[in-house]
Amino acid sequence: MKEEEEELLVMEAEAEHHQLHQPWKWRRVLHTTSSALLGLALLVFSGAMVLKFTSWSREGALDSSDPVLVDLTLVENATEKGAVCLDGSPPAYHFLEGFDSGTDNWLIYLQGGGWCHNVASCNARKYTRLGSSNRMERQVPFTGILSNLSSNNPDFFNWNKVVIRYCDGASFSGDVEETNQNGTTLYFRGERIWKAVLEELFLKGLATAKKALLTGCSAGGLATYIHCDDFKALLPNTETVKCMADGGFFLDVKDISGRSYMYDFYNDVIHLQDVGTRFPNCISQMDATKCFFPEEIIKSISTPVFILNSAYDSWQVQNVLAPSSSDPSNSWASCKLDIKKCNSNQMKVLKGFRAALLDKITDVKQKKDWGIFIDSCFVHCQSPMNILWHWPNYQRINNKTIAESVGDWYFDRREVKEIDCSYPCNPTCVNDGS
Ligand SMILES: *[C@@H]1O[C@H](CO)[C@@H](O)[C@H](O)[C@H]1NC(C)=O
Ligand SMILES: *[C@@H]1O[C@H](CO)[C@@H](O)[C@H](O)[C@H]1NC(C)=O
Ligand SMILES: *[C@@H]1O[C@H](CO)[C@@H](O)[C@H](O)[C@H]1NC(C)=O
Ligand SMILES: *[C@@H]1O[C@H](CO)[C@@H](O)[C@H](O)[C@H]1NC(C)=O
Repeated sequence: MKEEEEELLVMEAEAEHHQLHQPWKWRRVLHTTSSALLGLALLVFSGAMVLKFTSWSREGALDSSDPVLVDLTLVENATEKGAVCLDGSPPAYHFLEGFDSGTDNWLIYLQGGGWCHNVASCNARKYTRLGSSNRMERQVPFTGILSNLSSNNPDFFNWNKVVIRYCDGASFSGDVEETNQNGTTLYFRGERIWKAVLEELFLKGLATAKKALLTGCSAGGLATYIHCDDFKALLPNTETVKCMADGGFFLDVKDISGRSYMYDFYNDVIHLQDVGTRFPNCISQMDATKCFFPEEIIKSISTPVFILNSAYDSWQVQNVLAPSSSDPSNSWASCKLDIKKCNSNQMKVLKGFRAALLDKITDVKQKKDWGIFIDSCFVHCQSPMNILWHWPNYQRINNKTIAESVGDWYFDRREVKEIDCSYPCNPTCVNDGS
């Protein structure tokens, strides 16, 4: 059958230039699929609130309903505690109530969106939805792990679900009392936002949760590693507390020019927002910047964690491995956007990146209650996307979707340590780019 083009819009951290503080946006992703007739149009998080979703496939109609749109709630009284966004506005979240057997279960999702690393970039962010609740969308669609449909989200569809909006620029982990940053007013209060929003959710029923899952993607995935044990400690009466970090395993690797680009960037972030104090045990052994990388954070986490990450995380390829400033001749431009266009030398670099990730999680393989899903698809942030989270024939390892793998791990149905064969072995991949 003739190949049809399937058009998808995928939410991910914007990957332009060498910046690591770009806002989330919806990026157009094209990929081809044989035989299926698919019409998909998603429009989300871009300021627009319209969302249309229709699909047909060989497997039959999957789901033609619009995803649920969930209102923004401002936490006005958090401002008394100084728990505010970069611009001083109150923090915010989206809450979708659980039902039936999910009534007492809570899924908390920390939004991502890069970081700001100096006064200028944080000041610019202050005028965006990643730095001010005045700029945030008043409704967002809940899809993938946030969906309330069992067909899209078999294990968590009926749980209480909360998306905590990211507006502090440092993965919910900075805390600086001073608001005058060299003459510019900026609030670095991510740690206080985390606490204040959870306090508010406690009053809504989180305090008596039977099961809880902390999750998030990208900068929110990093925040998931950072706050996992805090989350567990806040819920002493909850029978099961676990954490699932999606696309948050940022690596301390050298980029294509030999620079430690990510290390230098994180070094700025953690000094600007005084994040090092969050890791008292780690900073007694090494410098604070290293302590901000998941490879160090996971060493001290005692709560069960599921590591969901692509071995060729597209955002890390674009921003950590081959930032534009390290590629003056632009020789990585097409490979960065589409893994199929990488030449053999570039593939070698990507394979090295995969090997570095696998090396950093070696110990995790021995931990019975931890989970792993490291696929070889060229993507970033898989759990909030219907087609990547749980879809016939897509994004599978050993014929299991990410949703099935995370569910099996969460509910102890089997030990989940899925590590994909290397690119391009997995025919189920939906990749960014092509
Ligand atoms: C999902 O949420 C929307 C809005 O609350 C509701 O209309 C719809 O019935 C829900 N779907 C299910 C399966 O509960
Ligand atoms: C403020 O300015 C001083 C002197 O230029 C500089 O060393 C310091 O890093 C600046 N602080 C911030 C937060 O940018
Ligand atoms: C914040 O205010 C809301 C509504 O005004 C109230 O219901 C809630 O109890 C307050 N939260 C805290 C933590 O005081
Ligand atoms: C893969 O799983 C699906 C159910 O999700 C099943 O229908 C199919 O037969 C499985 N394929 C293989 C090759 O096991």
